Amino acid sequence: MIHLRSLLLRWLLPPTMALWALAFTVGYLHSLAQAHEAYDRTLLGSALVLGETLRASDGLVVAQAPFAAFEMLRTDAHDRIYYRVAGLDDGRPITGYADLPAPPAPVGDAPAFYDATYKDLPVRIVALRQMVLVGSQSRPLLVQVAETLEARHQLTRRLVLQSALAQLLLIGLAAALISFGVRRGLAPLKALRDAVRRRGANDLTPIDTRAVPREVAPLIHAINTHTERQRQLSEAQLRFVANASHQLKTPLTLLRAQAAEALQQTQADAMRAVVERLNGTTESTGRLVGQLLSLARSELPVLVQAEALDLTALAHDATFELLAPARAKRIDLGFEGAQPVIVHGERVLLRELVTNLVHNAIVYTPERGKVTVTVGERQPGQAVLTVDDDGPGIAAAERERVLERFYRSPGTVPQGSGLGLAIAKEICARHGVGLTLTEVPGGGSGLRVELLWPERRD
Ligand SMILES: Nc1ncnc2c1ncn2[C@@H]1O[C@H](COP(=O)(O)OP(=O)(O)OP(=O)(O)O)[C@@H](O)[C@H]1O
Ligand SMILES: [Mg+2]
Repeated sequence: MIHLRSLLLRWLLPPTMALWALAFTVGYLHSLAQAHEAYDRTLLGSALVLGETLRASDGLVVAQAPFAAFEMLRTDAHDRIYYRVAGLDDGRPITGYADLPAPPAPVGDAPAFYDATYKDLPVRIVALRQMVLVGSQSRPLLVQVAETLEARHQLTRRLVLQSALAQLLLIGLAAALISFGVRRGLAPLKALRDAVRRRGANDLTPIDTRAVPREVAPLIHAINTHTERQRQLSEAQLRFVANASHQLKTPLTLLRAQAAEALQQTQADAMRAVVERLNGTTESTGRLVGQLLSLARSELPVLVQAEALDLTALAHDATFELLAPARAKRIDLGFEGAQPVIVHGERVLLRELVTNLVHNAIVYTPERGKVTVTVGERQPGQAVLTVDDDGPGIAAAERERVLERFYRSPGTVPQGSGLGLAIAKEICARHGVGLTLTEVPGGGSGLRVELLWPERRD
């Protein structure tokens, strides 16, 4: 099962951490630049102070303030400061550390900052030009002040660490908020769960969607639709059981009456006549029970024993099993279809389907009529079966209704329970077969029942 809270955190935290790493890098570079700028200014200050203290005495240039004086400007106790004063024209060192690295390019009016290594340590150096009056001449000097980088790095580290900590704290807070928000957001679902749990087993009314979050409403709607279908199904089943028992009551009463009547007969001939009627009633009751069973079976949610089978052979057998009743009415029962046509389905149900259609055709076609069963393919891999008769047909307005259970067209004379086509419809639906009732082409009155299989993909 998925945990929504951890799912959200799993999706949100890694990108946030990646963003944090990016912000950290940018922040580090920014802090470094800022630290450089601040310390460069101080370094320049030291160089200017040093420059100001340079005086010429007896033709020689000396720094009047002791080195310790501007060393006071030093920014950090850990850092070291070096300086050097040299002639700008001849490069001859005058005072300070003579081996301090020279600027990479000649120094103009503006001070130049550059990085170098001195005494095995990285240093930042500022170099500037300073004019000193020697006698009556103004002499250009190069003043350099260098500083090790410890303080800069310390400041950068501190700045970066502070902002990184603040960001991490924010991420932690965001994670906690997500967690809290999800818990709050799921509260209506919990209420819904409790409401569903409290329901009675027979309560199939729709769940109220007003209090659920909009995102979950489609799910609840889908569940409601499913429950509604379930409710309709269980209602249909209840109706069916009621109908079926009602339907069985009539022939059973008739059987009982006919048996009692037979028992009262003293003459063998008279008794035989009653027993013959009783036999007929038993037969039709047996058919009714069989139909009820296949209806119940065709309602099972899955095909139980589906197999690949030859529809031509199956329909041929089912048709000619009804040869006797057809002969009794002198009906011309014909079958067309020589090639095997393979379909996928449940043999017993498909046989029942064909039998019901052919039985109807024989029953509702007047004597000496014609019934033809045809099996073929609409296109390669798509089976089609038609049952044509030249009886009275079914009026277009009735065609939907005759597919309903227990419905019989008004005035239908031969006995029946109105289940044959309902069973056919059910079996077709189970197999994805399209069932249509039309007229037989050619202008006759008869009925054509057409079964169209879905295309086979194998
Ligand atoms: N081939 C047909 N020609 C004319 N009417 C038909 C034909 N097939 C069915 N019908 C009409 O449709 C109705 C429903 O048929 P269905 O097979 O469902 O029930 P039934 O034949 O009355 O009873 P049973 O359950 O015994 O088959 C019939 O009562 C009949 O009026
Ligand atoms: Mg029938």
